Amino acid sequence: MAIAPVEPALNEAATFMEQTLAELLPEPVGPHARVVEAMRYATLGGGKRIRAFLVLQTGRQFGVDRRALGRVAAAAECVHAYSLVHDDLPAMDNDDTRRGKPTVHKKFDEATAILAGDALLTHAFALLAAVETHPDPHVRTDLVARLAQAAGWNGMVGGQMMDIAGQGALTDIGQITRLQRLKTGALIAFAVEAGTIMGKASHQLRQALLNYAQDLGLAYQIADDLLDVEGDPTVMGKAAGKDQKAGKATFVTILGPERARAQAQLLADQAAAHLEVFDEKADLLRGLARYVVNRRA
Ligand code: IPE
Ligand code: IPE
Ligand code: MG
Ligand code: MG
Ligand code: MG
Repeated sequence: MAIAPVEPALNEAATFMEQTLAELLPEPVGPHARVVEAMRYATLGGGKRIRAFLVLQTGRQFGVDRRALGRVAAAAECVHAYSLVHDDLPAMDNDDTRRGKPTVHKKFDEATAILAGDALLTHAFALLAAVETHPDPHVRTDLVARLAQAAGWNGMVGGQMMDIAGQGALTDIGQITRLQRLKTGALIAFAVEAGTIMGKASHQLRQALLNYAQDLGLAYQIADDLLDVEGDPTVMGKAAGKDQKAGKATFVTILGPERARAQAQLLADQAAAHLEVFDEKADLLRGLARYVVNRRA
């Protein structure tokens, strides 16, 4: 099956998300304007919007209204942005640059960065719970529950805990796989599952997409770890060479770059193969699998 070039569609989705997020994040007014400014700073004006793209493209398979999908995509991007704001804090990865700009705690201060992250997380749930997202309250509750799982102790936060606690300690590929599935995979899987929930997909199609998401998420984080070793900081908009210095355990530190790259490629091919039950409308999802392992940023 043909693999569609994904960049034009990704750019179009990024533009749509910039507008959507700007509408859905309040304008900074009042005595607490500073935290709202920091939320907008963290969310607007950058990012590849991969998670948003996954929500939009998955929902599209089932003919879901794009405006409603935009709200769910915005929720995923708010949680992702929060995770990055906290990930960059001195207590975690201690980074000064993100998306080509000073990190939130550098631009504002640490307390504001913590609060902006907290507020982005809760804002995501407010977006999902609102009736504009879906008229069926069961669909909304399902979205809220799934995002809570994906972001929480047995999802992204759990993976971040393993990442921090495992510095210098994890050497086993099984443990690293678990870490990456939680840290990055869980939110990527949410993005895909959200589209299936919105579209009330059949069990079979939902499972195919979840299998796709699991392989894609792992490939995505391996590519991130490879970029940390081989990437150009000016293209990435963030520092490189940090993982080894911090003693992080990644696929690259365990397998070496060559085998890690081969593993990412294999996972990307496997991800696309899970979509064989879909027609050409899923070509952009197939193309995304190729994109995530070849990306430079
Ligand atoms: C960076 O995520 C952190 C990871 C989980 C790999 P992205 O590479 O998706 O960051 P943005 O949103 O494009 O800046
Ligand atoms: C972060 O992983 C994953 C999150 C859940 C935020 P990294 O620490 O590798 O992400 P970068 O390299 O700083 O973007
Ligand atoms: Mg980190
Ligand atoms: Mg980091
Ligand atoms: Mg990284």
